[in-house]
Amino acid sequence: MQKLKIRGGKPLRGDVRISGAKNAALPILCASLLTAETLTLRNVPQLNDIGTMLKLLAQMGVTAQRDGETLALNAGSLDNPVAPYDLVKTMRASILALGPLLTRLGEAKVSLPGGCAIGARPVDLHIKGLEAMGATIRIEAGYIHATAKRLKGARIFMDTVTVTGTENLMMAAVLADGRTLLENAAREPEVVDLADCLIKMGARIQGHGSDTITIEGVATLHGAAHAIMPDRIETGTFLAAVTATGGDIRLLNTQPGTLDAVIEKLRDAGATIASSADQISIAMHKRPLSINVRTAPYPAFPTDMQAQFIALNTIASGTAVVTETIFENRFMHVQELVRLGARIDIEGNTAIVHGVDKLTGAAVMATDLRASACLVIAGLVAEGETLIDRIYHLDRGYDHIEKKLVALGADIERCN
Ligand code: EPU
Repeated sequence: MQKLKIRGGKPLRGDVRISGAKNAALPILCASLLTAETLTLRNVPQLNDIGTMLKLLAQMGVTAQRDGETLALNAGSLDNPVAPYDLVKTMRASILALGPLLTRLGEAKVSLPGGCAIGARPVDLHIKGLEAMGATIRIEAGYIHATAKRLKGARIFMDTVTVTGTENLMMAAVLADGRTLLENAAREPEVVDLADCLIKMGARIQGHGSDTITIEGVATLHGAAHAIMPDRIETGTFLAAVTATGGDIRLLNTQPGTLDAVIEKLRDAGATIASSADQISIAMHKRPLSINVRTAPYPAFPTDMQAQFIALNTIASGTAVVTETIFENRFMHVQELVRLGARIDIEGNTAIVHGVDKLTGAAVMATDLRASACLVIAGLVAEGETLIDRIYHLDRGYDHIEKKLVALGADIERCN
């Protein structure tokens, strides 16, 4: 199994190009299920999760042609509306096939994802929303079996803000009969990117980016071309890394406006940050100050940046309080950071991070995607050598992260 070996202590310097966003690409790949015509995507990141989604779509009958970061998908021969357990269990985002399959073919059979390392992550709101649109849904042998002649527009209130839930219901509603109102919808930029792509395909959607999205169903969608938005979490991860290690970097092909909460916190930590339309420059030449963080749905501080900010706080001056409000078990990186010399207490959904002068390299294990990114940041600041095991988690969601870090001057290599 591959590991990452990092010798820490080097400042980061140079330019880094941000890739397309995983969490925008995954639903947009599923949007290809909604039309018999070709959907051409640009800025598609090279990630294992994208590979898994392409496998899933292929066994449903979707053809894919990939050329670097361009991907052409065609669901003209879509004939198998099934998302099997062996793929869904490796990637929960497979649930995003449910809404599109059901609304296009009148039937979908998608495995229930089961539990997950960071929390229970139920999909009850996806199911309730589709039922409100007239679907008949049975849970059989671990599968969600949904049928509907044609979905009907409905007013749907989601009592928890759910990103993939909003995306699934929005995709179901674009081909439904009549108007759907999604209330307490997720406002995440990835939801907006999906809506923008669907509109290019002929969907009638308004209000995306606010908490009420209105969709007027149409009879069919057509092909389109769309560029996936830049990854705000990859951007935030590099910003947190340089705030921890010190240095001076420029992030290219990014979207600064999607990172307000993160950038404000890094300024509080002492970083100097300037941005233009699609670039961010950051400089940091002192020990960071500790920063309190509370995760919440967009536009507040993202849960997907919580682990990286804990890593930053481990070597900051002062004590930070980090509260996780989205997932009930997203502190697994804490025990690994303690192996590197961090001082962190956990009380319920809060981590109290007492900044120490330095971390010291050790062998650690990645437990999920963002926990892996947190350990990379910790390894970059630790004295000596850090060996991170189970980096397949990292490859699910970061496009060539070690190559990008090497180009910024980090001492990091992949080994077996
Ligand atoms: N929830 C329910 N019922 C549902 C759906 C969600 O109770 O039917 C709860 C969840 O258990 C959780 C909360 O609602 O407590 C929010 O979960 P959400 O549904 O928004 O999460 P998600 O859509 O499954 C996406 C991202 C995650 C990111 C979260 C929160 C994708 C593919 N995944 O997950 O990304 O953490 O939103 O922003 O978009 C990652 O990239 O590392 C990652 C985990």
